[in-house]
Amino acid sequence: MVAILTPNLTHNYWPGLIEAYRSFLPVSSSTPVVTLLEGNTPLIPVSAIASQVGRGVKVYVKFDSLNPTGSFKDRGMTLAISKAKEEGAEAVICASTGNTSASAAAYASRAGMQAFVIIPEGYVALGKLAQALLYGAQVIAIKGNFDTALQIVRDISANYPVTLVNSLNPYRLEGQKTGAFEVVDSLRSAPDWLCIPVGNAGNISAYWMGFCQYREAGKCRRLPQMMGFQAAGAAPLVQGKPVAAPETIATAIRIGNPASWDKAIAAANASKGEFNSVTDEDILAAYRLLASQEGIFCEPASAISVAGLLQLKERVPSGATVVCVVTGNGLKDPDCAINHSKNGVKSSVAPDLEAMAKVMGF
Ligand code: F0G
Repeated sequence: MVAILTPNLTHNYWPGLIEAYRSFLPVSSSTPVVTLLEGNTPLIPVSAIASQVGRGVKVYVKFDSLNPTGSFKDRGMTLAISKAKEEGAEAVICASTGNTSASAAAYASRAGMQAFVIIPEGYVALGKLAQALLYGAQVIAIKGNFDTALQIVRDISANYPVTLVNSLNPYRLEGQKTGAFEVVDSLRSAPDWLCIPVGNAGNISAYWMGFCQYREAGKCRRLPQMMGFQAAGAAPLVQGKPVAAPETIATAIRIGNPASWDKAIAAANASKGEFNSVTDEDILAAYRLLASQEGIFCEPASAISVAGLLQLKERVPSGATVVCVVTGNGLKDPDCAINHSKNGVKSSVAPDLEAMAKVMGF
């Protein structure tokens, strides 16, 4: 008999996070799975950042920007939209600083539903807006911030036949908890610290739920300290009270009254974690550092997890393992990259050897 070698096309096939973690998720055989094969994002060792922390601390970036719409929101959206479809919804709505709107729009289009997205006018990064429009959402910009937009979508979804897909929808957090599962699956343990950006406070709550469930299932023995970071101008959880007019360059987390306030406080308390604020200047420094020394291009809100770690570096236990969650892709906010890069474009250079060599410093 002649052995026929066929390429194994299923090698490393990733079925999307609902299939991968089905037994941990509220789905049944009748749930129509709406997926873009999200999840399974890399956990990247970042040695330049680790050496700034020193004392043998190991640092990894959970690079969730590599999800199909470029942010961690896809983890929650695959589940929220699948459940909305199961329940017969024809339309979904969200308030958003940009990423939720892009993700909701993509998954709704795949499910054959209409998406309505309500955004704070003038404060959504260009790439996110472009995504929502092209995926076919109805984009409505209001004269008001995210907190106002969230109140409006709560009212609309309570009165009209549209399903809310903000993280108040419990399926969003159920999906997002898989980020914690993947961290544990990669490290074969939980990290000592999980550093994470905090805006509406859904993701920190979801990660904590994920770590706790995985420990109960015997997948890890310990739990991380949850270290949440907010921008200095939008730090209600640090200040212990809502911020009426939040301001930060990190528009994704420009939020003054997080919906998952209580859950996030509970996660920080139970894990002996904390909330700290980071200035825009330090956020931008980490944003540039990640790109220029690690090759990781993220959006400013995501860089806060690394900026926060560097701010607290003296307090990280020696030899500890730290995971910084990087939530969104740098390509979403090209204006920020261009305005805050240290290198300008050397323009109008004559296309000849001598001029080029001179400009290049040879
Ligand atoms: N990082 C990015 C890139 C985000 O877009 C968000 C939230 C967060 C972090 C914070 O996560 O809200 O769960 O604490 N973006 C929401 C949105 C608000 O509308 O896209 P959180």
